[in-house]
Amino acid sequence: MQTRVVGVEEGKASATGAAIANGSTRTNSPVKAFPFRFLQLFFLFLLVFLGISLASLHTVKYFGSPNVAPRVARTIIRPCLEEPTSIERWIRPPSSLLHTMNDAELLWRASFVPRVKKYPFKRVRKIAFMFLTKGPLPLSPLWERFFKGHQELYSIYIHSLPFYVADFPPSSVFYRRRIPSKIAEWGRMSMCDAERRLLANALLDVGNEWFILLSESCIPLHNFSVIYHYLSRSRFSFVSAFDEPGIIGRGRYNESLAPEVNLTNWRKGSQWFEVNRELAVKMVEDTVYYPKFKKFCKPPCYVDEHYFQTLLSIKTPHLIANRSVTFVDWSRGGAHPAMFGDADIQGDFFSKLFESRTCVYNNQPSALCFLFARKFTPNALGRLLNISSEIFGF
Ligand SMILES: *[C@@H]1O[C@H](CO)[C@@H](O)[C@H](O)[C@H]1NC(C)=O
Ligand SMILES: *[C@@H]1O[C@H](CO)[C@@H](O)[C@H](O)[C@H]1NC(C)=O
Ligand SMILES: *[C@@H]1O[C@H](CO)[C@@H](O)[C@H](O)[C@H]1NC(C)=O
Ligand SMILES: *[C@@H]1O[C@H](CO)[C@@H](O)[C@H](O)[C@H]1NC(C)=O
Ligand SMILES: *[C@@H]1O[C@H](CO)[C@@H](O)[C@H](O)[C@H]1NC(C)=O
Repeated sequence: MQTRVVGVEEGKASATGAAIANGSTRTNSPVKAFPFRFLQLFFLFLLVFLGISLASLHTVKYFGSPNVAPRVARTIIRPCLEEPTSIERWIRPPSSLLHTMNDAELLWRASFVPRVKKYPFKRVRKIAFMFLTKGPLPLSPLWERFFKGHQELYSIYIHSLPFYVADFPPSSVFYRRRIPSKIAEWGRMSMCDAERRLLANALLDVGNEWFILLSESCIPLHNFSVIYHYLSRSRFSFVSAFDEPGIIGRGRYNESLAPEVNLTNWRKGSQWFEVNRELAVKMVEDTVYYPKFKKFCKPPCYVDEHYFQTLLSIKTPHLIANRSVTFVDWSRGGAHPAMFGDADIQGDFFSKLFESRTCVYNNQPSALCFLFARKFTPNALGRLLNISSEIFGF
């Protein structure tokens, strides 16, 4: 970017110079008969020419506004655009996350899938960390530490309240990683819309292979290498989906969802998923189940606990592990899971958490079940930073 802007400025200056030089040959030609007058005119012109050159250089250097640069770029860099298209153009991630596509346009664009399965270039597979937040990311210092040194292997996306303005410094991994956002309400379709918006924006980067949904209260439980290996070697995506009898499971099924969704297809599960690219496309391309869920799953049917879970259980049951890799504690009961603050995470809190469950990983029993955990309050940050190297390995 930097080099291009410099190039443009040079281009403008020399173009101006050339125009004036052309002018000089034209005006000078009729005065051959008077050498003295000719010299006078010549020096006068030389002075004017130098003056204009200096002035224009000065103007571009000091007053060249960002508005001027693109206009100049279009006229001067045109020949470059007409060069044969290189593969770079198709695989380069968007330079800015801001765009003016509406949701329909974005989902359509994000659903593009190459028909040739083998990539004809070296594709470094990345994890897309998608933060679904209200506003600030109070645990960002912990995440910064987690991401350090792995620039090539991840991308970050933030969806927040539309009016929220983040103030991350340019040195932060979160700097300018916010996508165009809208209001998302818990338990309503606007929440699934936000999740699809995150997926779709992340799909625009062909390097992204795994897509993890996180909130501002989430923390990583292991270092980057452990998490990268766990996801890249898994044959399944981690979507929590189960058939639960009773009022908060099957009880939320509405018969109008049939025939697309029958009661036996109906699934419940945590909102916090990890999916691979294939499943991410399934989630953004759906136009069959979406309108049904939007119409027939309204509170007390909390759609973010059913839509993707049911969709993927119908479309790709063989590709999901039916469990989440994000730890959450529902043991205290109620409508919301337990929150963990500074006082809660003393002592052997994390060793207990790690030992709390066994699970199945690639059809084998495993003790490593959780990669992330929620819900941690901002006041847990100090302690988390203190123990991160010893407990989480970063
Ligand atoms: C739901 O049941 C109907 C009638 O038995 C069947 O035609 C339809 O395919 C089922 N839908 C799914 C998604 O299994
Ligand atoms: C199904 O959804 C419709 C529309 O929201 C609603 O009127 C109806 O009461 C629901 N039925 C059940 C059994 O929840
Ligand atoms: C997840 O559940 C589906 C049924 O909904 C099943 O077909 C699939 O095998 C399960 N996945 C694993 C990894 O057990
Ligand atoms: C972090 O560690 C430092 C030094 O060991 C200690 O002074 C501080 O109280 C600890 N902070 C928290 C929140 O545990
Ligand atoms: C990440 O954690 C694992 C397990 O704790 C450890 O073996 C490995 O050395 C750590 N990697 C880095 C880069 O710190």
